[in-house]
Amino acid sequence: MIKVGLIGCGFMGSMHANCYKNIEGVEIVALADIRREKAEELQVGTNATIYLDGKDLIENADVDVIDICLPTYLHCEYALCAMDKVKYLFVEKPVALTLDEGKKLLNKAEETGCKVQVGQVIRFWDEYVELKKIVQSGVYGKVLNANFRRLSPIPEWGWKNWLLDYELSGGAGQDLHIHDVDYVLSVFGEPEKFYSIKNLKGEKNSYVNTLMKYTDFVVGVEGTWGLPSTRPFEATFRVVFENSVVENAGGKFMLYTKEEAKEIKIEKKELKGNGNVGGNISDLGGYYNELLYFVNQAKSGGEIEDARLIDGVNSLEFLLKELAFNA
Ligand SMILES: NC(=O)c1ccc[n+]([C@@H]2O[C@H](COP(=O)([O-])OP(=O)(O)OC[C@H]3O[C@@H](n4cnc5c(N)ncnc54)[C@H](O)[C@@H]3O)[C@@H](O)[C@H]2O)c1
Repeated sequence: MIKVGLIGCGFMGSMHANCYKNIEGVEIVALADIRREKAEELQVGTNATIYLDGKDLIENADVDVIDICLPTYLHCEYALCAMDKVKYLFVEKPVALTLDEGKKLLNKAEETGCKVQVGQVIRFWDEYVELKKIVQSGVYGKVLNANFRRLSPIPEWGWKNWLLDYELSGGAGQDLHIHDVDYVLSVFGEPEKFYSIKNLKGEKNSYVNTLMKYTDFVVGVEGTWGLPSTRPFEATFRVVFENSVVENAGGKFMLYTKEEAKEIKIEKKELKGNGNVGGNISDLGGYYNELLYFVNQAKSGGEIEDARLIDGVNSLEFLLKELAFNA
């Protein structure tokens, strides 16, 4: 049984708790949130002890792994403490706010031997996992161009509205667009050049659009959280290969070749745990997959080989270069 301590029981903490409750051989034994009622909501169906501050949990709870779902500006401080306590640590993305923090985390991981996974969840999202396989197989020839979009209503759910404070969250660039940046880097590597236009400081029209140039193809990555709440969240992509187009848009994951247009089917696996969230694993998106991977590595004593701490820091570094780019 893997004993989990979860710090931060807000929006993402509650998604993580749902996932852990649906993974066999995992028990949430400790929850921390300075808003006790938030921790109490997630305590249902567990025997978890509640702590108010994350540091109390780190000091006092008997846990095998710690999962940090705190606002981004607190990641580094709490992750540094947690690495002294456990051998496996999960930190939500973006791993930190600054590169300096990222380096501190890397040094601490080396010093303690703690294995850290970052919540770059798109690497574990079914359609994106499939796309990576398609790109790497070369089955449809070379990539000619690609486009990734992530468009969101304004995120107004955060504790004390921390997400809309650029100094605390890094705005739509660091908080939202980093998902696609990290995925693109994981599939295509670093571009030779990039060009970026953005308006990130405004709360309402926070927007970034970056063109990444590779030797013989171009990737466009667009992100905003400037949409009204009536406009549904959108995470889409289109990759044009020599012999096909693979597109995930409008709720359909499609393959277009000269001969046909057909849906790419993703196998839906049934949930096995006792969390009773209903539906199947796909309803928990990549969150279930990334946390299943994390606890499986902790169970087996294995290395974290995807969404590693260094990956999170590298993506942050690229993102910060985009923010510094003068168009
Ligand atoms: N992977 C994804 O798709 C995804 C999606 C949303 C958010 N996130 C990330 O998850 C993290 C959390 O975001 P969120 O949307 O859940 O924010 P949130 O504001 O909903 O939740 C944060 C929680 O932390 C609590 N908290 C604050 N200080 C604390 C402390 N010292 N000790 C204990 N609890 C404390 C708050 O009360 C709040 O409940 C952020 O880094 C965000 O970028 C990731």
